[in-house]
Amino acid sequence: MSVIFSGIQPSGTITIGNYLGALRHFVGYQKEHECYFCVVNQHAITVQQDPAELKKNSKKLAALYLAAGISPEDSTLFIQSEVAAHTKLGWILQCVSYIGELERMTQYKDKSKGKEAVSAGLLTYPPLMAADILLYGTDFVPVGDDQKQHIELTRDIAERFNKKYREIFTIPQPHIAKEGARIMSLVDPLKKMSKSDENVNAFISMLDDEKTIMKKIKRATTDSDGVVAYDKENKPGISNLLTIYSLCSGEPVESLVQKFEGKGYGDFKEAVANAVISVLKPIQERYEHYLQSSELDKILDEGAAKAARKADKMLNKAERAMGLARHRI
Ligand code: TYM
Repeated sequence: MSVIFSGIQPSGTITIGNYLGALRHFVGYQKEHECYFCVVNQHAITVQQDPAELKKNSKKLAALYLAAGISPEDSTLFIQSEVAAHTKLGWILQCVSYIGELERMTQYKDKSKGKEAVSAGLLTYPPLMAADILLYGTDFVPVGDDQKQHIELTRDIAERFNKKYREIFTIPQPHIAKEGARIMSLVDPLKKMSKSDENVNAFISMLDDEKTIMKKIKRATTDSDGVVAYDKENKPGISNLLTIYSLCSGEPVESLVQKFEGKGYGDFKEAVANAVISVLKPIQERYEHYLQSSELDKILDEGAAKAARKADKMLNKAERAMGLARHRI
């Protein structure tokens, strides 16, 4: 049995990009593996969050994990700030990270570009992410394409620690899906779909209603040649919609292309929207149930306690290896 860990930031409502690139895959690991899934609220505060919104979004994200099929019997679901070992190991790993390698992270460069004041946490985000992963002896980290660089850095940090101090960390591997690992913005299909995009038309939120989904997809940026074909370079908008359609309907891209031969973008977009709605609707119904029930707090309390039991053991090992534990060797 392998150990699986992954996390999602509660910075706004998650999008179908997060779902198709990450969350959807988490569900499949649960029966066969030891799984930890986390609402990474301490990562979210690297950029300013409204406190009331963050609190609400953290619970909403936990309810969405459950609604998407994460089962508390099979997986440990918890909120990062409720397991103190994450920031404790995060600090230790900051001390084995180099500023140069942190400055090279694409996410840091993107999020700090043009900003006058950038929080130190935005730069030291990857060692905290490494702590999330390494605390559990994680073998595989299912993520979208944009997190690959962070997992590679996690591997470097773990290897460095193991060599300098003691061999305690498992070296994790990313699991990146072949299709859907980078769902693009509906407004600018050369940009990644992101839940923090200023333009709400750029993404489909997991909680958007049918009308909104239809409207956003109908408005999605495409091209003017009117041919439904997969060509990422010359037709990024249509290719992105084809990927979304294929993942939501389970039909291969080639057969969708055949189906829409000679038809216009109007029909095509309507079909894409209907496929998205058919995936999101049942999730939204289950989401309402979890959000309203007292079950959610209980699941999160138990998840945090279970995660802490495992994480504290690894933190203990790291502290001993570094000489931070007065009574322990
Ligand atoms: P976050 O919250 O930005 O995204 C959560 C997951 O969704 C994937 N994703 C996408 N996949 C396909 N298309 C997209 N447009 C898209 N946008 C996002 C992300 O790759 C990710 O898998 N740093 C992480 C959170 C994190 C984490 C961790 C992940 C913190 N600690 C430990 C794994 C393990 C992040 O910001 O994800």
